[in-house]
Amino acid sequence: MSQRTKIKALLESEQTDVSVIVKGWVRTFRNNQFIALNDGSTNNNLQVVIDFENTDPAFLKRITTGAAISVSGTLVASLGKGQKVEVKAKEIEILGDCDPEKYPLQLKNRPSLEFLREIAHLRFRTNTFGAIFRVRNSLSFAIHQFFQERGFVYLHTPIITASDAEGAGETFHVTNFDLANPPKTENGEIDFKEDFFGRATNLTVSGQLEGELAAMALSDIYTFGPTFRAENSNTTRHLAEFWMIEPEMAFYDLNDNMDLAEALLKYVIKYALEKNAEDIEFLTQRLQEEEKQKPQNERSDMSLVEKLQFCLDHDFERLTYTEAIEILKESTPNKKKKFQYPVEGWGTDLQSEHERYLVEKHFKKPVILTDYPKEIKAFYMRQNDDGKTVRAMDVLFPGIGEMVGGSQREERLDKLEQRMDEMGIPKDELWWYLDTRRFGACPHAGFGLGFERLVLFVTGMGNIRDVIPFPRYPKNAEF
Ligand code: 4AD
Ligand code: MG
Repeated sequence: MSQRTKIKALLESEQTDVSVIVKGWVRTFRNNQFIALNDGSTNNNLQVVIDFENTDPAFLKRITTGAAISVSGTLVASLGKGQKVEVKAKEIEILGDCDPEKYPLQLKNRPSLEFLREIAHLRFRTNTFGAIFRVRNSLSFAIHQFFQERGFVYLHTPIITASDAEGAGETFHVTNFDLANPPKTENGEIDFKEDFFGRATNLTVSGQLEGELAAMALSDIYTFGPTFRAENSNTTRHLAEFWMIEPEMAFYDLNDNMDLAEALLKYVIKYALEKNAEDIEFLTQRLQEEEKQKPQNERSDMSLVEKLQFCLDHDFERLTYTEAIEILKESTPNKKKKFQYPVEGWGTDLQSEHERYLVEKHFKKPVILTDYPKEIKAFYMRQNDDGKTVRAMDVLFPGIGEMVGGSQREERLDKLEQRMDEMGIPKDELWWYLDTRRFGACPHAGFGLGFERLVLFVTGMGNIRDVIPFPRYPKNAEF
């Protein structure tokens, strides 16, 4: 093990006048004397003080923003403001020089988020991205902890599959054909029998269907993995590659499902608030700065920390799609024709402007909508007796819109087959899915939580491309 101590531990240390070794990257170097050193263990920098009068000026010139250094010295109580302790350097070694003429990340004039996206390989080195990725880490750990504490089995569902779980057809093909010259059938169509898997395959859009199979034996499972959608949506809420958490529970109905989703969200937000207090404080300040650029009426009345706390302290509002349509129809923006998509009647899909109205203006808290029209939902959702709606649920969050989508599943074979026929879902391809309805079917439910949308909410960032290390979106797969 390295003798090095991480900066987070040093800054919390009660002991001074001890020898230490620290390693990290120079954030700034001031007056040839004070290095602000960061190693990613915390947002705070360690001040390293150099005896510059006894140091070769040529060496001092190599201590530049971005350089990697190793320092051995003494941890002492700091006289300066802003920190309790600092390190008096005895010896400094430059591990990696960083040419200030060429280094694109000069922190003096704050780089824009758009610019940082173009240098995503370096943006980890900023305070903002350091905080985001530490929070992202905590949230994923907390998700596992939540499910593990409750006896759920973490299930790895396949990335390559022949099914399109959501039936929306927005998949990326997986093939090892020579695309210029794929084998053809007699009719001139591409012959997927000749392809690697002997059939057409794609990247998964959801692990749900496989998750259901395991839940029919293990009771409670969850997946947590990458998901791929070739939807051409250039928005601040969509990625072509995102991470999804999909729990699936035997013997759950929709109410149990909603309770679990709400408990999960509160648990992980609380975890991050405690574990990442400093980072969230920093991100709160960042958001406040950003909002100063906006007109008064567009600023939020709560700070980021307050918004997160508010979520923990209040029950999510639960209502049906039908009730939501009534509220939207009667709403001021609808009557004044302020919605881009006017709400005319029952049956239309909700647009994000409608979801945001409900959450941000009407209820002012997270909302769970249930019982959507069957026409706008997937084939596997349990049909209600009214013949019109299904036991779906969407959890909507302020500033985000849809955070979670889920449902109670249709466990009755005849009803499921009938719906698949109506929607043109090939039953023969999903024979294995239908088998679970033949052999010991039981009521069950589950949902999908979009991990980046959760990180977006907890960090207060505005664009989903900034909460995943290397975002994938239309016309971009750099890094
Ligand atoms: O609502 P969706 O499409 O539901 C499913 O995939 C179900 N199979 C889930 C289940 O019941 N097991 O997706 C679930 C969530 C959405 O609520 C959203 O948070 C997120 O995944 N999501 C996306 N996040 C980022 N980029 C995209 N393109 C997303 N599409 C969905
Ligand atoms: Mg959905």
